[in-house]
Amino acid sequence: MMKKENTDTVGYIREHLQKPVVLVGMMGSGKSHIGSRLAHALGLEFYDSDRLVEERAGLSVQEIFTEYGEEKFRQAESRAITETLERGACVLATGGGAVLKDETRDTIKLKAVSVWLQSPVAHLLKRLESAADRPLLKNGDPAEILTKLLEVREPLYRQADITMDTSLASQQQTIEALINALYAHIKAGKF
Ligand code: S3P
Repeated sequence: MMKKENTDTVGYIREHLQKPVVLVGMMGSGKSHIGSRLAHALGLEFYDSDRLVEERAGLSVQEIFTEYGEEKFRQAESRAITETLERGACVLATGGGAVLKDETRDTIKLKAVSVWLQSPVAHLLKRLESAADRPLLKNGDPAEILTKLLEVREPLYRQADITMDTSLASQQQTIEALINALYAHIKAGKF
């Protein structure tokens, strides 16, 4: 059962949110899980850019990387994100490297409320332990690769409107904190 104050917060967000909520952050930070639960809590549609790209291509992310290369994947990812941002209020989980493309970052800045799900590498590694579907982790030591990717991407993730550490609390607590942060963001008229 949702607490009364929480129901009011959710009601306020539903009434005032006009833009999509876009989750950015490293692979393994929980964007898809947290995103779909957040969408459910807010009564909004949930989209995942990796899944949208896969559906359109009829290929898995892994297959797109192998057959066409990363740049083609980034173009398809950018297109999927740009189109989804035209849908109004919804929740969109993006792939970890989506922020690398200037035009994708600019569109997110302009058309969405962005949330960086921040996690230290140790936490990402734990979540990715059994994931065999991340092409970028295939050619070397995952800890080293993630550390290097994070070094490049952190300044880009930092540009998000809201930063949420996903390593400190349970998923439920993270979602509640995220709802409160969204509420404060909207209330402050920052969107
Ligand atoms: C990538 C992250 C993946 C997927 C692709 C590339 C990245 O998405 O888009 O494997 O560059 O970090 P998740 O962040 O959902 O794992």
